[in-house]
Amino acid sequence: MRISPLCALAALAATAASAHDPITTNLTWTQEISRVIYKHCAGCHREGGRSFSLVTYDEARPWAKAIRDEVLARRMPPWGAVEGVGEFRNDPSLSQPEIDLLVAWVEGGAPEGDPIYLPPPPRFDEPPPGPSSSAGARNLTLESTAPLTLDRPLDLLSVRPNRLSEGGSLEVMAVSPDGAVQRLLWLRNYRREWQRAYEFRDPVRLPRGARLSLWSAAPAAVVIAVAKPAR
Ligand code: HEC
Repeated sequence: MRISPLCALAALAATAASAHDPITTNLTWTQEISRVIYKHCAGCHREGGRSFSLVTYDEARPWAKAIRDEVLARRMPPWGAVEGVGEFRNDPSLSQPEIDLLVAWVEGGAPEGDPIYLPPPPRFDEPPPGPSSSAGARNLTLESTAPLTLDRPLDLLSVRPNRLSEGGSLEVMAVSPDGAVQRLLWLRNYRREWQRAYEFRDPVRLPRGARLSLWSAAPAAVVIAVAKPAR
């Protein structure tokens, strides 16, 4: 913490008309914060992206308090899968230390810092990484009315919800022949911007005779599962 006595005095005098927040943090946009934003947010929050730009300090600063609120509520980055069910390689969520960093920066007055530390601007021309070993994979369509019973062992690579309406919920499960239940994906309060395939961190091995099922209150919802024969 470094609060200059002068600045603290000024803040006391000016609480009513807080024209500028006192700086009470060593975290800066140019050193720590831009790197988190470039990695987790700028894919959508940029010129030509899906939402307003957060790439420069001048663009991000007016949003500081909203950024804090969105990341604390885990609404940003949008992802949807309920934590603790399934582990996904393409999960863009912030780690707890990253959330703490953003929050501390905002509450410390969101300072810019020295521009010499600024990382190069992010680039978005590379294709997103796909499942690593998808050769021989095929699609299985899962409907809520009809569980699929596997006639041979499969490695499940990803699941993609489809035709789920705004606000809907959905759960994908696998029941092994011995009765063991494995919860694979849980979405609550669905939002359209979550639309994507959820790629498992490691392929999920399902034995022959396992039942793959989809639960959803939305009868039209389907899930496209990508799987390949287990070897
Ligand atoms: C997949 C795209 C995507 C990513 C990644 C993303 N956002 Fe967003 N964000 C959006 C969209 C779309 C909106 C506007 C619609 C909405 O409110 O959901 C939005 C809205 C916001 C808002 C405004 C909320 C309000 O007050 O209405 C803030 C602040 C925000 N995002 C911060 C972030 C931060 C911080 C990150 C990274 C940690 C992030 N976003 C990552 C798509 C994204």
